Amino acid sequence: MDRRDLLKAAGALGVMGLSSGAQTALAQAANGAAGPRPEPSDVREVLSLNKGWRFFDGDIPFPDIQGHGWTYANAKAGQAQGGASVALDDSEWAEVSLPHDFVISRPFDKTANIDQAYRKRGIVWYRNTLRFDPADHGKHIELQLDGVATLATVWFNGTLVCHNYSGYNSIYIDLTPYVTYGDAVNSLVVRVDAVSMQGWWYEGGGLYRNAWIVKRAATHIITDGVFAHPVKTTEGWTIPVEVTLNTSAGADQDVTVTSALWGDGPAPLARESVQVSVPSLEQGVGRLQLHYADPKLWSIETPTLYRVVTEVVQGGVVIDRAVTPCGFRTQRFDADKGFFLNEQPVKIQGVCLHQDHAGVGVAVPAALIEFRLRKLRQAGCNAIRCSHNAQDKAFMDACDRLGFLVMNENRVFDPAPDYLAQLTWLVRRDRNHPSVILWSVFNEEPMQGTEAGYEMVRRMRAAVHELDPTRPVTAAMSDSFFNPINVSQTLDVMGFNYHQDQYDAFHAANPHLPLISSEDTSAYMTRGIYKSDKAKHQAASYDEDCADWGEHHRQAWKAIHEREFIAGGFVWTGFDYHGEPTPYEFPSNSSLFGIVDLCGFEKAAFYIHQAQWVKDRPVLGLVPHWNWEGQEGQPIKIMGCSNLEEVEVLVNGQSIGRQSVDYYEMNHWEAPYQPGKVELIGYKGGKAVAHTQVETAGPAYRLKVTPDRPEMKGDGWDVQPFRIEAVDQHGRFVPLADNLVMFQLSDGAEIIGVGNGDPTCLEPEQGDRRSLFNGLAQVIVRAKEGASGPLTLTATADGLQSGVGKVKIIPAAAPAYQATTPATQLLDGWSSAPFAAAKPDPASRPGAGDMNSWQWFPIGALFKPQTTDGYSLCANQFWPFAKVQKQGGVVVFTRLVGACEVYIDGQLAATKTDPAGGPLRAPVPAGAVQRRVTVLFKVAAGQDYGIGGIVEVVP
Ligand code: GAL
Repeated sequence: MDRRDLLKAAGALGVMGLSSGAQTALAQAANGAAGPRPEPSDVREVLSLNKGWRFFDGDIPFPDIQGHGWTYANAKAGQAQGGASVALDDSEWAEVSLPHDFVISRPFDKTANIDQAYRKRGIVWYRNTLRFDPADHGKHIELQLDGVATLATVWFNGTLVCHNYSGYNSIYIDLTPYVTYGDAVNSLVVRVDAVSMQGWWYEGGGLYRNAWIVKRAATHIITDGVFAHPVKTTEGWTIPVEVTLNTSAGADQDVTVTSALWGDGPAPLARESVQVSVPSLEQGVGRLQLHYADPKLWSIETPTLYRVVTEVVQGGVVIDRAVTPCGFRTQRFDADKGFFLNEQPVKIQGVCLHQDHAGVGVAVPAALIEFRLRKLRQAGCNAIRCSHNAQDKAFMDACDRLGFLVMNENRVFDPAPDYLAQLTWLVRRDRNHPSVILWSVFNEEPMQGTEAGYEMVRRMRAAVHELDPTRPVTAAMSDSFFNPINVSQTLDVMGFNYHQDQYDAFHAANPHLPLISSEDTSAYMTRGIYKSDKAKHQAASYDEDCADWGEHHRQAWKAIHEREFIAGGFVWTGFDYHGEPTPYEFPSNSSLFGIVDLCGFEKAAFYIHQAQWVKDRPVLGLVPHWNWEGQEGQPIKIMGCSNLEEVEVLVNGQSIGRQSVDYYEMNHWEAPYQPGKVELIGYKGGKAVAHTQVETAGPAYRLKVTPDRPEMKGDGWDVQPFRIEAVDQHGRFVPLADNLVMFQLSDGAEIIGVGNGDPTCLEPEQGDRRSLFNGLAQVIVRAKEGASGPLTLTATADGLQSGVGKVKIIPAAAPAYQATTPATQLLDGWSSAPFAAAKPDPASRPGAGDMNSWQWFPIGALFKPQTTDGYSLCANQFWPFAKVQKQGGVVVFTRLVGACEVYIDGQLAATKTDPAGGPLRAPVPAGAVQRRVTVLFKVAAGQDYGIGGIVEVVP
């Protein structure tokens, strides 16, 4: 085989070694899910690339490169080998859509990593085939992958275009130089190494966030290229706008950049322009100031958002436009008085959050992200710490919209260039979000008390401030607070993890350094459980158990709330998360730390925080349930959580005590169990103003299905959770029901995940069934693209009446998608022998080691006419896709110009006598794994000839 034949096609050898069984034993197509919708724009196209992916669940070993030709080919751009080869047959790979977490669909395995939730990780491959319209030629074309876990290598048309070293940052790749247009297809390949881990929690794996193709004018605003964060100066509000442009055009460009501030009204509130020169292939930066005297402020209660619309104008035409949401608010950390938002003191009532959810793992659609945040807001939570990594764009947008303060955290603690790039990417992406109040450069690093750690933070802090001078830098320190050199000495705000007994000493020693509890609590609770049982890996939901290094919910908040100098805290954690099961191990596979479980069902901690945090409405939370069959007469603890003045408990109508509300400890009673009713009454000013109750339920009788929202959009992106519960004959919740429930959806939607919040449950999280855990389960449903009308989810279980949940699907346009195409075998990579006067042997090829006598030529363009008559021999080596190997097929030339003969492995297969351009089909017999097709043109002097269109091998 000569080296030219090997180019392109050679890569296919990499997978020839895999058995066809291995190639076809593909992973389940996991369910895609939704994410942020692009802003419609007439000047730039933001196209979803969530469709068209093919997935191989395993690694594809890099081929053992041999021989001159192949070695030569292997070293060339466009000639990636193995799984990255353009010529690879991926037609039998599983079809998947994004977001896609391949790990969540794997079974639990006791031998797998505990902190990654006992699911085997691995190396996998994704491929997609893209088409671009000839009208796209000249535009700037960028690929955006919002998140790939964990390490990613990306090839485009056989050229390596990116190594990415984090499972949490976006990847932006300029595809412009490599793209081919029209009938040609473009190969996009991502190898994902999820064996690598960057955390000690469940990280999932794969293309687990959205992917996009963004088409902009050659001269355009770069991604994350607008910084427009309002600041208040002594003269009033101003928005210093910084716009970074780039141009892929061949010459320097002069443009006008205009930014306008928009509210809800029909006209802009401020507008300014600036001239910017953009050198060819370089960046140009425009700076201007927008002034607006009287904005509505962004706050937790009223998160008013404005938009800065930035346009690039050239020759009177708008050639690019970026829309940047922003909010007007001030922030200040004070070393004695804590945090101030808009000069009002705000105690930060925060939670730490990992990004996963029941059923879907880390592939969490935007609507589910919003559900999670709404649930936390119900608990009175006003702040989120993105522990310990960047979150999805949709998460940041939702925090802006819902009025959450965000401590935004970087993953890898390292100021080396590859890793500093992750930090600066985060700041550039998120610095316009009014929700962001803090940048955190690390969590609990062993070097935090060393000079090296100090020097590393100093550099990372400087990098953040260069990009965002408006917000302080923190780090979550877990010890070494008093070392002679420690990182707190180079922080703007000290982040304290745990060690609450050292707050006062630290404050005394560092009186000018603002302090926040970056992490606290780490208490254990199993939802719906009120007696701890080590054998069952269950912790009572009374706030009784916590990690040695942590505190109970109530005491942790007390330590923060009592100290004005502590800006607030972040409870570990808001939601339970997959992985890091603590204090138990297998079969426990998710954490017990959440104030709600993996699905968002409330534990007692939810009511405790409601009582402590909610100020604008009465709160009454009552635990436990009142189903203690077999324990009649035995004392049962009752806990009441309230933000009112007094609370009273009645058991079966009899008061067992009225108490002043204990803000920190909550209120406690004990009563001997008798079936019946427990009531909690809340008083204010001596008057009963709130009431809640729990009744002893009878046996489970019926299933009840409750959607989170009555409507959803039929756009293929919207999702929502349905709550499944067992009730008795009188409709009372049955708190111990554990029935296996089957789910059935009407047309128009699909289930993307199921859960029940049981940290020990080993049932699959994808499928159509789930056991209730303490009476509850959750089904996450996605509406299909184009769906409309009523949707029903029916839940059935043996021996129970089934339940039906109904929602209405509202017709909604799907976002625009990038054109993709099913796997097809296109033959490019053609080479031609020197033009010859005598008819050559159609099977001839260059001699061994001859790298130069044959010439590469692109298909689609014709050869220059010759001055003499003669013959031109063109060749292409290919590996027929599996179906053609099995059944045989045809090489389809869409346009051959000139009289010619086509040979397959030296055998004449087709002849074209008419020299005019036209199609030709050459049959390929079944059998060989490798073929060589040659086209022998008989050329008259001055005559056009060549391969004038794409060449495809079809079954
Ligand atoms: C902290 C750590 C968290 C989590 C937690 C469990 O030390 O920052 O990521 O591991 O402990 O209690």
